[in-house]
Order: sequence, then structure tokens, then C-alpha cells
Amino acid sequence: MAAVAGAASSQDQLPKRIRQWVTGQDGLDRLRIEEVDLPEPGEDEVLVEVRAVSLNYRDTEVAMGLYNHHSSVSHPPAIVPCSDMCGTVVSCGPVTDSNSPFKNPAFRLQVGDRVISTFAPTHLSGQVQASDVAQGLGGPEPGVFTQYRVFPTYGVVKIPEYLSHEEASCLPIAAMTAWMSLNCMRPKGEIIGTSGAKEVILCQGTGGVSIAGLQIANAAGADVIVTSSSDKKLEKASKMGAKETVNYKTTPDWDAEVLNRTSNKGADIIFELGGAQTLRKSFECVSFGGLIACIGYLSGKQDDDGDRTNTNLLALKRNVTLKGILNGPRDELERMLVFYKEKEIRPVVDRVFKFDEGKEAIKYLFSGGHFGKVVVKIKE
Ligand SMILES: NC(=O)c1ccc[n+]([C@@H]2O[C@H](COP(=O)([O-])OP(=O)(O)OC[C@H]3O[C@@H](n4cnc5c(N)ncnc54)[C@H](OP(=O)(O)O)[C@@H]3O)[C@@H](O)[C@H]2O)c1
Repeated sequence: MAAVAGAASSQDQLPKRIRQWVTGQDGLDRLRIEEVDLPEPGEDEVLVEVRAVSLNYRDTEVAMGLYNHHSSVSHPPAIVPCSDMCGTVVSCGPVTDSNSPFKNPAFRLQVGDRVISTFAPTHLSGQVQASDVAQGLGGPEPGVFTQYRVFPTYGVVKIPEYLSHEEASCLPIAAMTAWMSLNCMRPKGEIIGTSGAKEVILCQGTGGVSIAGLQIANAAGADVIVTSSSDKKLEKASKMGAKETVNYKTTPDWDAEVLNRTSNKGADIIFELGGAQTLRKSFECVSFGGLIACIGYLSGKQDDDGDRTNTNLLALKRNVTLKGILNGPRDELERMLVFYKEKEIRPVVDRVFKFDEGKEAIKYLFSGGHFGKVVVKIKE
């Protein structure tokens, strides 16, 4: 066993009991706070004081017992929800030596390091596997909506100084999924904006994933089109650099509008978030050879309007690759942080709630009134 990395703080200076939110996966109204003992880090683990938690659509599904589309994931009846946090390392367990990729010396941490969680901690690189999904935080594994949590050192990543805790907490799922949607089909090493071609990116709606996509694509010099049900939100998106905006409620044929605005070329990458009601339209306004990043839920192989045309045929029509996005690995998160730092991208935080307002925060996200991310400040 090697020496402890950095000064391990004394657990004595920390509270003995901590508070955390718990869901029985039986409805947003039944979220509750419970008190538990402070956990202690074991070998190659760190104790993190959580400073901010950002909320994802998935968290509302877990709390309502509706997150059941991954067959490898079975949920315990009651669970601490949420996967995305930023916090400070307050104590380090002993460091062990080994050749395991999970014990990479580059992952070692010190007390005082500011870190974010990764959604599926064992997903270090490459293709995600069912076994990684089965380790997802906030379902099935205990989540981060708590004051203190132990993480394996490979399950957190240090963040750049320029980001606040609230901003950094928005990165693990929303920004990471946007990053993967923009870069996962490029040759390894190449990222958006480096090929010289001017790309058009279509972001559906103005939630966490879409707005992170707008920021990354904009910083990389791409043209971004944002759709929304709200003109007010579209104004905000324009101010942030969206080249075109379309209200999908007042312009139900938004796909035709996307073609209009792109001289009939269509969008090179589409963030497909709407699923059943948007996928067909995405196929109509994607560029030839373009990419539909299937991020939201593709519900049904047949359309409910009686048209039996299936997805395979629609994909063939424009020679399109259909690529499912399931978050991304740790090494891509690190590449993304380098890009964020270089471009000084600050995640968009719509509203910050207090710890005791956790239930209101999740209900606010579920209402869809937000633009960007909803965050809960765990420590004032
Ligand atoms: N595969 C993955 O790894 C992954 C990762 C993250 C999220 N997701 C999924 O991606 C989706 C979005 O997640 P999120 O966290 O960004 O959600 P979110 O922050 O709650 O965003 C919701 C927003 O989506 C927009 N929207 C809803 N219905 C729409 C429609 N029919 N057409 C266009 N936009 C629509 C609305 O924007 P306006 O108010 O502007 O209309 C709404 O405010 C969810 O289905 C989530 O489960 C998947």
C-alpha cells in the first residue's frame, strides 16, 4: 500500500450525521429528507462534501418510478436520487498500487480538490457496456443528492478553476451528452470545429442537453438552430449565439422551416430529444449523410398517424447513420473540460434552489419552465 495522496483531513472535524434526499420511486411529492451517518472513504476512495447538484430529466423519472428502459438496471425500492454534483474532497482513503485501469495514478486526489461526478463511474473509455449502466448514480446506485458522499477516485474528475460549483454540477450528464452527440462519430482525436467545414447543428428545445449543445457548437464556430415552445426562450437562445430559432408550437412544420433556413441543405447534426413526435420531422430536415443523435426516447417503431413507414426505411432514404447516445466515458469528459476551459464556456443555470427546497426543484424541472439547468445548492 502506498502513502495517502495529499493530506487526508480528519473525519473528526466533519459532522457525524448528514442529511440526504431519498425517493421511494413513488412520485415527486413523496421525496423526503433522511439523516444518516457520515460515510468514511475506504481504499482508493475519497469523501466529497457536495456543494451543488444539478437536475436531469432522468431524475424526475427515477422519482416517479418510470426509469425502466435499461434492462440491465434494476432499482432498489428507495434510493438517493440524482447523478450530477460538484463538490470538494474533504478526506482521502489509503491509496493502493496496482496495474488496474481503475487505479490509474492520474486519478489520485488531494483534500481541497474540486471535482464533479461521472454518471457511470466504471465507464472510463470507449463503448459503454450494460455493466457500466448498471453502476449509474441515482439509479440503480445511490445518487448524489446528499451533503457528503464517498466516491471511488476513478469516479470523479477535477474541474477548472473558472467554473463555480453550480456551473460545474451541470456538466456530467447534460454537457457530456451534448459533447458526445457532437463528436462521437468523428475520427478519434478530431472534435467539432477543427475540420474546417461549417456545420449546422439543430438543438430541440431549451433544456439542459440542448443548451449545452448550443454553447459547445457555438464556441466551435458551428451554426446552431434552436427550437422551442416559447418565444421568450428563443430570444435567450439568440442572445447566446443561436443563428436561427424556430417555435415548434407556432410552426408545427418546423422541419420545413429548418430546410428553408439552410437553403434546403438541412442540419448536419440533430439533437433528437423529442422522440416519437419529432423523429419523423428530424429525418425530413437532416442533411444528406447527416447524423441524428438519438438522445431522447424513440417511442414506437410505427407512427401513430397510421403511416407504417418504419425508421429503417426513413434512415435509408437519406443515407443517415442513427446513433444512440448514452452519456460518455471519463476520458471524453476530460477532453470536454479542456475544450470548456479553452473557450471559457459557463453552463447556463436557470435557477438555484436551497437544499430544503429539493422537492420544489425537481417539480420545477418536471414542469419544463426552465432554460438550461436547474441546480440545488447543497451548502450555502
Ligand atoms: N441518452 C442520454 O445519455 C441522455 C442524457 C441526457 C438526457 N437524455 C434525454 O434527453 C431528453 C432531454 O433531457 P434534458 O435533461 O435536457 O431535459 P430537460 O432539461 O428537462 O429539457 C426539457 C425541454 O425539452 C424541450 N422539449 C420537450 N418536448 C419537446 C418536443 N416535442 N420538441 C422539442 N423540444 C421539446 C422543452 O423545451 P422548450 O421549453 O424550449 O420547448 C423542455 O423544456 C430527455 O428525454 C432525457 O431523458 C438522454
